[in-house]
Amino acid sequence: MPAAFITLEGPEGAGKTLQAERLAEALRGRGQRVRLTREPGGTRLGEEIRSIVLARAMHGDAGIHARADALLFNAARAQLVAEVIQPALAAGETVVCARFADSTLAYQGYAAGLPIEELRAIAAVATAGLAPDLTILLDVPPEVGLARKADEARNRFEAAFDLEFHQRVRAGFLELARQEPARWRVIDAARDADAVFGDVLEVALGAL
Ligand code: TYD
Repeated sequence: MPAAFITLEGPEGAGKTLQAERLAEALRGRGQRVRLTREPGGTRLGEEIRSIVLARAMHGDAGIHARADALLFNAARAQLVAEVIQPALAAGETVVCARFADSTLAYQGYAAGLPIEELRAIAAVATAGLAPDLTILLDVPPEVGLARKADEARNRFEAAFDLEFHQRVRAGFLELARQEPARWRVIDAARDADAVFGDVLEVALGAL
């Protein structure tokens, strides 16, 4: 199987982290070398940026403007692409990444209202033009996804942005998937984790 760059996207509580871990494990079991990573984070700089953009106690709800969010997420992304993703792909590894550039389009674009084309331009710089071969959208209604997380475990976006914001996030992801059907696969993630994983593995194997 050739190396591929696979991303998992979706609203809060869709199960991206768990499904990414299970996918990486299953592909390794099939003899693939797999690099599992996540956004924001995945590098030392990225984890520091993560603590800035997600720490709700430090910043409250209104501390960071959407444009600053967009640039911070993309700074973390630039480091992740240069330090982890590109080298792994060059070495023939499959990369599985929980969230990538589409998250900025959904959150800072469709939900927070920044112009999508401007965000695409910023992301093109951050990724050096790298795009996923396959993007799996774990689609879940925000009221279902948010209910999966305990109050104290909620990050800044989950705690400080209202249900309408998260509904726009979900609609944004679905719109992105509609615009680029060759790259995206949409999976109903409101079901139990095993059922969702069956579909995740099937679409991943189908793309490899
Ligand atoms: P995280 O705890 O990783 O959420 P999840 O487990 O759902 O992936 O937190 C990432 C948060 O950052 C999430 O609320 C979405 C938000 N985010 C953006 O707003 N823009 C981005 O570009 C990225 C990558 C994440």
